Amino acid sequence: SKQWRGLLHEYADRLNISAATPIITLGEGGTPLIPARYLSERTGADVYVKYEGMNPTGSFKDRGMTMAISKAVEHGAKAVICASTGNTSASAAAYATHADITAAVLVPEGKIALGKLSQAIAHKAEIIQIEGNFDDCLEIARELATGYPVHLVNSVNPDRIEGQKTASYEVVEVLGDAPDFHLLPVGNAGNYTAYHRGYREELERGVTTKLPRMFGFQAAGSAPLVTGSVVKKPETIASAIRIGNPASWELALHAHADSQGYFGAIDDAHILEAHRLLSQEVGIFVEPASAISVAGLLERSEAGVIPRGATVVLTVTGHGLKDPQWALKRADGSEVSPTVVPADTAGVAEVLGLTREA
Ligand code: F0G
Repeated sequence: SKQWRGLLHEYADRLNISAATPIITLGEGGTPLIPARYLSERTGADVYVKYEGMNPTGSFKDRGMTMAISKAVEHGAKAVICASTGNTSASAAAYATHADITAAVLVPEGKIALGKLSQAIAHKAEIIQIEGNFDDCLEIARELATGYPVHLVNSVNPDRIEGQKTASYEVVEVLGDAPDFHLLPVGNAGNYTAYHRGYREELERGVTTKLPRMFGFQAAGSAPLVTGSVVKKPETIASAIRIGNPASWELALHAHADSQGYFGAIDDAHILEAHRLLSQEVGIFVEPASAISVAGLLERSEAGVIPRGATVVLTVTGHGLKDPQWALKRADGSEVSPTVVPADTAGVAEVLGLTREA
């Protein structure tokens, strides 16, 4: 059977690439859209989860990065730079090394998950920890990219959003139409913008009959799109979306207006509750920021906004293995630690409550 070839090959006719573009790919995209029976039963809607943790570096960033790095190399770049809460740096590091160029990444000191930092180190990025937050990192990365020979690969680079819009194409291919609602986490709002663009294009091509309502969720301590003003000191356990001044703010407002969208804030306790539900009831392991899509669904469903029978797609953006510590605590904060028993079959059977079959 034929192997999925990555976005730039699969969607060559729909992206701004040419024969002159060197295609830098790790096989990203083609991620599963998983029917979530538990969430459907709980809400009465028809709920699917787009599992972006299945991308090569474990997050949706790979969709934007294959495009951004390919275009950077086409334009002669020898080095790329990004600011990151972790996933963008992991992705930039992997794609840059695959293209044989250098990646420099600026991250907020002590505020990125260990799995993501490990990826950037493994792929030999130049990693600089900034004594500041993500917004400070992005400001510096933008300044460096204007004054020095480094190419910016944050989502303010339009190639990133172009690559990321392909996730909507995939949803439409599976469902045969656009869903009624699309829910996703929001940090810089680049991905929110990208999904809307993909769906808009599908509608204009005549492939779909509707534009989904785009519902974006921010952590309550980092919710500038909900409050309408920059958050100077953003806080949340969902480190991926600890962002106070979204880079794609204006684009996101357009997508919001065009799609009868919604921006909502979810507190950390509800993010962690949704994280547990998705792991324990659906079997999908994500990082906390991704679980906000599930928390947002439950909140909007309880608010009566999601009609019975509506088709709903939730994007879960990053893999649980990036930041696994959250699985090791119960709702009451106590630590989970598996039982230890001697290497003895009867003893294990007893702990499992099994009795021998006759
Ligand atoms: N989910 C995850 C797992 C992320 O890593 C990010 C962003 C988002 C959601 C939000 O996407 O910014 O397009 O609204 N992470 C960036 C990074 C900021 O540096 O990895 P957005």
